[in-house]
Amino acid sequence: MNLIRGFENVARQSEPLAMHTWFQLGGPAQYYAEPEDIDQLTTLVRRCHEEGVEMRLLGQGSNILVRDEGVPGMVIHLSSPAFCEIRVEGRSLTVGGGALLGRAVTTAVHRGLAGLETLIGIPGTVGGALHGNAGTHSGNIGQWTLEATVIAANGEVHQRSSDELVFGYRQSSLDDLVILEASCRLEEDNPHELAQRMQKHWIVKKASQPMGHQSAGCVFKNPRGASAGELIDDAGLKGMRIGGAVVSDRHANFIIAEPECTAQDVLRLIELVRGQVRDRMGIELELELEIW
Ligand code: EPU
Repeated sequence: MNLIRGFENVARQSEPLAMHTWFQLGGPAQYYAEPEDIDQLTTLVRRCHEEGVEMRLLGQGSNILVRDEGVPGMVIHLSSPAFCEIRVEGRSLTVGGGALLGRAVTTAVHRGLAGLETLIGIPGTVGGALHGNAGTHSGNIGQWTLEATVIAANGEVHQRSSDELVFGYRQSSLDDLVILEASCRLEEDNPHELAQRMQKHWIVKKASQPMGHQSAGCVFKNPRGASAGELIDDAGLKGMRIGGAVVSDRHANFIIAEPECTAQDVLRLIELVRGQVRDRMGIELELELEIW
């Protein structure tokens, strides 16, 4: 069966993924689709399920590294406006999984709804943020999320209510294939003061993290009670390089991809950093970055 028959205008084969990720590295997806609505999306998901084809959901590509050889199966990207809506009703903010987290944050602040402003500057989509419970030292998206609509790998749509949602540090029970939509219950506040608080968070982030470089956020999770960035820094690894991959001078938990960098360079640098921190500090760093 031709997997993308009838979907030629929204799906293709051998799509280069580098341009869809922040690292701008890595090979192609065997199949790639940007469905226009839920019907197209569920049809594609069911087809892949029936054919035993692996599926992956791509958000903004701000927390993944695609291997140079590319990825088998189908990569689905929710770029259509149908998946990016944001609605406010009272204290409730309902956001499509494909919407940018930054848009959700600024919409909430404009409407005088507090909670998400600490997340300003975190790249990616709302779906991606919920999948990994994106956050900062001041809060995370999960703590405000009350319910979500998801699509399972067999194409069934489910509603996940608050008693089914469990969020931990960079962890979420929302592990279904697609996060279609989620609702957050926020707190009323003064929009002007909220905007000022948001700006403060933005300034702190900009001062401590490399922005405007080819990178994908923090590479490792913080081990309990410690900062991965500080450990890597203390191990003297800032500026360490393999090929075109370099440990950031500004924040040691970021890897920057310079021109000519390959995904393999980044993978080798990750192993080098991990090995050095293990040998010197006796701590095993766990990846936050997803490797495809
Ligand atoms: N530090 C160093 N050297 C470095 C980096 C950090 O000594 O190169 C020290 C800092 O001086 C500070 C401590 O380590 O004393 C913590 O640093 P920071 O405040 O930058 O926070 P972090 O723990 O490294 C976490 C999140 C970030 C989030 C910030 C701000 C993780 C893995 N990282 O970083 O999230 O933006 O807090 O709240 O949890 C991400 O998840 O991708 C991410 C960037």
